[in-house]
Amino acid sequence: MIDGKKVLFSGMQATGNLTLGNYLGALKNWVTLSDEYECFYSVVDMHSITVRQDSAELRSRARKLLTLYIAAGLDPEKNCIYYQSHVSGHAELAWILNCFTYMGELSRMTQFKDKSAKHADNINAGLFTYPVLMAADILLYQADVVPVGIDQMQHLELTRDIAQRFNAIYGDVFTVPEPYIGKVGARIMSLQDPSKKMSKSDENPNASIYLMDDPDTIMRKFKRAVTDSVGAVRYNEEEQPGICNLIDIYCACTGKSREETEKEFDGKGYGDFKTAVGESVVEKLRPLQEKMAELEKNKDYIDSVIKNNAERAAYVSNKTLRKVQKKVGFPIRP
Ligand code: TYM
Repeated sequence: MIDGKKVLFSGMQATGNLTLGNYLGALKNWVTLSDEYECFYSVVDMHSITVRQDSAELRSRARKLLTLYIAAGLDPEKNCIYYQSHVSGHAELAWILNCFTYMGELSRMTQFKDKSAKHADNINAGLFTYPVLMAADILLYQADVVPVGIDQMQHLELTRDIAQRFNAIYGDVFTVPEPYIGKVGARIMSLQDPSKKMSKSDENPNASIYLMDDPDTIMRKFKRAVTDSVGAVRYNEEEQPGICNLIDIYCACTGKSREETEKEFDGKGYGDFKTAVGESVVEKLRPLQEKMAELEKNKDYIDSVIKNNAERAAYVSNKTLRKVQKKVGFPIRP
């Protein structure tokens, strides 16, 4: 609890261009929850270097991502929006938690298996211990709730296990966090292969809608989206995974239910439906894109957000860190 409010923590990697999946699965919920909780939203640049990055590009993407959080509607006066690498407590707690996490647990993480298959030439220790850094992010702020997409659930379960293990030894040190998974949009799939999640790192640009795509590009990508030969707009997961994904996107952007959507497009073809989905996405992203362009011109403002919020994050996180250091037996600072 901070000032009588429960705490929320979440983060995104500054790797690649953000997709509609990141927006509908996470960012959109962050904005909805931001009034109710004391929120910490981090640009997790330390996680990004588990895969080789171009330094200048990473720096620029990280800044864009931080700006995007604000453009999406998160007020940096009320929400702590900061770079993970600016708060040294993340690395310090991660080290301690590494000593309370088992190799077997980390070997079971599907994201590790996927990423090490994809980057076989660079299976570094950071890639392996990535979920421990994520646990440190969350536990440092004593977060009650963590809004994420379904793909991060396994990491969150591990975070809970680590917190409970630590608490069982040292008493109630960490709040055990709960995941928050949105009702719609928690798993947006690729437009080209609906069996895969929409991902920033997909090589096929038609597979993902990027948040900064212009309206023509968005419409074109939806027109090309893979569907099926059934020919009816129905939520049928077995036979129509592509259409289900489009229905989910449409529902998340318009607030309509699956049933309402099926009714609206009853008797209509896929062409009409795809156009409507594309338009709903264009309208959803328009204010975000406009705000982004405006904020990017305001360098001093963004710089001040970066500085002030990192200080606040450091202040809050240090309280947990000092407690943990004491519990594990590190000498008290004179
Ligand atoms: P990242 O950067 O891959 O994704 C950011 C958020 O977007 C969600 N997401 C999706 N949701 C729905 N459909 C999709 N296709 C889709 N793709 C991504 C993710 O679930 C996530 O919520 N390890 C994390 C970042 C992280 C973090 C944390 C998150 C680091 N520390 C602490 C929460 C708390 C990651 O790589 O997310």
